[in-house]
Amino acid sequence: MSNRIERADFFIVGSGIAGLMSALHLADHGRVLLVTKKRLNDCNTNQAQGGIACVMDGADSFDQHIKDTLIAGAGLCDEKVVRDVVSKGPARIQELIQLGVEFHRKADGSQEFDLGREGGHSQRRVLHAGDITGQRIESALVAKVLSHPNIQTLEHTMVIDLITTRWLKQTDPENRCCGAYVLNQLTGEIYAVQAPVTLLATGGCGKAYLYTCNPDIATGDGVALAWRAGARIANMEFVQFHPTCLYHPQAKRFLISEAVRGEGAELVDPEGRPFMKKYDPRGSLAPRDIVARAIDSEIKRTGAPYCCLDIRHKTPEYLKERFPKIYDTCAKFGIDMAKDLIPIVPSAHYCCGGIQATLDGITSLPGLYAVGETACTGLHGANRLASNSLLEAVVGAYDAAERIVNDPPKIPDNLSIPPWEYGTAVASDEAVMVAHNWMEVRTCMWDYVGIVRTNKRLMRARNRIRNLRHEIREYYFDYLVTPDTLELRNLALVGELIIRSAMRRHESRGLHYTLDYPSLLDNPHNTVLPGGQH
Ligand code: SIN
Repeated sequence: MSNRIERADFFIVGSGIAGLMSALHLADHGRVLLVTKKRLNDCNTNQAQGGIACVMDGADSFDQHIKDTLIAGAGLCDEKVVRDVVSKGPARIQELIQLGVEFHRKADGSQEFDLGREGGHSQRRVLHAGDITGQRIESALVAKVLSHPNIQTLEHTMVIDLITTRWLKQTDPENRCCGAYVLNQLTGEIYAVQAPVTLLATGGCGKAYLYTCNPDIATGDGVALAWRAGARIANMEFVQFHPTCLYHPQAKRFLISEAVRGEGAELVDPEGRPFMKKYDPRGSLAPRDIVARAIDSEIKRTGAPYCCLDIRHKTPEYLKERFPKIYDTCAKFGIDMAKDLIPIVPSAHYCCGGIQATLDGITSLPGLYAVGETACTGLHGANRLASNSLLEAVVGAYDAAERIVNDPPKIPDNLSIPPWEYGTAVASDEAVMVAHNWMEVRTCMWDYVGIVRTNKRLMRARNRIRNLRHEIREYYFDYLVTPDTLELRNLALVGELIIRSAMRRHESRGLHYTLDYPSLLDNPHNTVLPGGQH
């Protein structure tokens, strides 16, 4: 048993762009404790290839970027949030540059940015650093965070549950977040962190699906933590499947950036025949939901397990320079992008839903803030426009810090956090349950809650996930917690929240497509689930 209580002014969970930028802004106003469950750079940001969408060019305009975002969002974007994110973007990009991020400039010596193009964008507006944009952003920000005297970072530290006044049975009339219990994965110690501000920047939940291009950390921890603490969760049915992940038995679903299509690659069947124009006049650069469904339908039609990308009209020199990581990775698997078709399949990529929050991070639970992919602010609506997520994270981090500093929340004076209770839990001799249920959750989500849904499939999935959650809950209480158990518990809960949200939507909108309700309802609405319990 550990009586240790760590205290901080600002407690941040997650080390992608949202967490790191929030930490840097808040560090001028108090002590920041930032925890992350693996290494600092184990996050989705570090893998982002395409880049960050922002109006940086006289040929472009805020109005066009707003319009493109609203069209992709299929009637569910919050227009004010879209306008805010788009118009605040350039200042945040300048800040990233000052922090040391180098975006590619044109080779003509003009100092203008070499802007990329992606699906659904009417203009070239994606700032990039080749295809390792996220890595460049992450390493610049990690360096700043590590050298800041007011920021303490703890790697291999995983949050078990948030601590709320409701859970502490405080007489406080409103439920309020006061910190969290965390597990130090290296020593096994579980202790409390007490803070008036807890900011979740934990990223997405791609691992809820069998096939995903997300890194292993994307287990939906923020959504699960917030829901168990009583915060509202919104629009979880809108899971974005990236259309083009490398299909190869040895590749762990490596992403082939949409920027490759932005530079002219065509989607073709395995015989090399283009097919996208059959589905949408915008062809291979149609928004992702349309492209992913078209690929799914072609795979079903041809019986081949994949479709292909064709960028053979570009020279090897160009491809190596513009897409160094993709070029090398394909070559490693025996694919020469300049000569061969690249086999691809869709896989889970981004969750447009999340903890219901304002752009400045406020959730329905006082003391709890959410920024980045784990939050649902209204920017993405029913479908995210490519490369809008890093922009949302960087704008949201700044706005949340401003809000927290100008309107600081307070912890009740008489707060007393007890040490973590181990109860009668013992070390597990049944870890096979974790491995088995992990696969079962992900397979069930892929088979029944994927790109094309039906009522029957959703019902099947709901029944199975509920049984699994019941088993996981028993296991959680019987055995000492491990990182794997915690991730499985979160993943299964997030799976259930996705299914419940999907069952509530009786229409096909954006990323939610169901054969039982193929048309659109007249009045777009968000799906909001009230928070649950520990
Ligand atoms: C990509 O590079 O295709 C991913 C960009 C994004 O999802 O925003």
